[in-house]
Amino acid sequence: MGAKLLCLFLASALIAYYIYTPIPEDVEEPWKVMLITASFRAMGHLAEVADRLGMMHYMDALMLLTAAEYVAPTSDENITVTDTEFSNVAVRLYLPRRASDGLRRAVIYFHGGGWCVGDAGMKSYDHLTRWTSNMLNAVVVSVNYRLAPKYRFPVQFEDVYSVTKFFLQSSVLSQYGVDPDRICVAGDSAGGNLAAAVAQQLLKDSEVKTKLKVQALVYPALQTLDMNLPSYQENEYKPILPKLLMVKFWSEYFTSDSSLREAMASNRHVPVESSHLFHFVNWSNLLPEELKKDCVYTSPTYGSSELAQKYPGFLDTRAAPLLASDAQLRGLPLTYILTCEHDVLRDDGVMYAERLRAVGVSVTHDHAKDAFHGAMMFVSSPAELAVGHRLLKRYIEWLNDNL
Ligand SMILES: *[C@@H]1O[C@H](CO)[C@@H](O)[C@H](O)[C@H]1NC(C)=O
Ligand SMILES: *[C@@H]1O[C@H](CO)[C@@H](O)[C@H](O)[C@H]1NC(C)=O
Repeated sequence: MGAKLLCLFLASALIAYYIYTPIPEDVEEPWKVMLITASFRAMGHLAEVADRLGMMHYMDALMLLTAAEYVAPTSDENITVTDTEFSNVAVRLYLPRRASDGLRRAVIYFHGGGWCVGDAGMKSYDHLTRWTSNMLNAVVVSVNYRLAPKYRFPVQFEDVYSVTKFFLQSSVLSQYGVDPDRICVAGDSAGGNLAAAVAQQLLKDSEVKTKLKVQALVYPALQTLDMNLPSYQENEYKPILPKLLMVKFWSEYFTSDSSLREAMASNRHVPVESSHLFHFVNWSNLLPEELKKDCVYTSPTYGSSELAQKYPGFLDTRAAPLLASDAQLRGLPLTYILTCEHDVLRDDGVMYAERLRAVGVSVTHDHAKDAFHGAMMFVSSPAELAVGHRLLKRYIEWLNDNL
């Protein structure tokens, strides 16, 4: 009996130890957040084991979660939902059924998941895009771009770009009853990265006549240069995106070669020949005092030029929109940026807002002080959080007022 009790006690202690993560004090519903964090971490550990045993690639194991969350395209009384293809890329299309006085608005949406996982058909994304379509009475195109490790940069970018370009044709817009003056690209996390890159590319593309009205970037990843920003230092172990997972996502976008990942993790991946780019991510100039915290700005550290020669993508503005010059940022559409305090990607978004404003782009920057990366996705059971509903409400309200 004593031995059994002891085992039970030890097992509970181990489970408690595993589940426990320090949750920032200002985060609401800390126990729920802790459970969500623990499930994500457990998934990461299982993927790590599967990868080490040679059973499957780490990202393919994470992708099983995406598959488990999949819901088929299902129309309801408000929205007709179909899976189709635009320009040979899979999309999930949401068409409002409600009558409209005139032409409708449209949102082209790119899901998150570190360019490696995620799907427009995941329950949380389906919920978000359906909600967007319903609340704005808008056509929503949610893009299932191809993913790493099977496909690398620039495939993800090219997929979302060709869908956008296809949709922006006037014949397609009129087919769906969309107002060419009220179109938005939007995305969260890696999807926010793709949305920012698409908006930049459209400015250079003389073939596209339709202009975006708005870009909406939800906790976007925007730069590959400095993996040691104050937000990376401070939030290295915060829910649900620890620094090393973000580094893994970034490096997998370009290669599975672990030398890139290791160099990024120690922030020694940029060759000295690219030193001029650091100016664009200089947090000493670009962050407000309150976000610098106690971090001390130090000069960039450099690595061998071999990595950048082998994988030039990580210095490409289509992967890292924050590395675009001021001239390339000028003329971008009205911009919404959401950042979360407890997020390694926080400073990417904050610096982009600052750089856009400096060249005259109108920006609404919402900074959620009590939120962590990915929070806007937690709006349906079993992982439902008050903060998720708050962020989603604000995002939709902004689109409704500005698109
Ligand atoms: C349809 O839209 C109405 C009004 O916005 C909403 O109350 C209702 O829940 C929606 N139905 C579904 C299935 O989402
Ligand atoms: C970053 O900004 C600081 C302060 O303005 C400056 O001293 C430093 O040289 C800059 N570094 C780079 C790489 O631009």
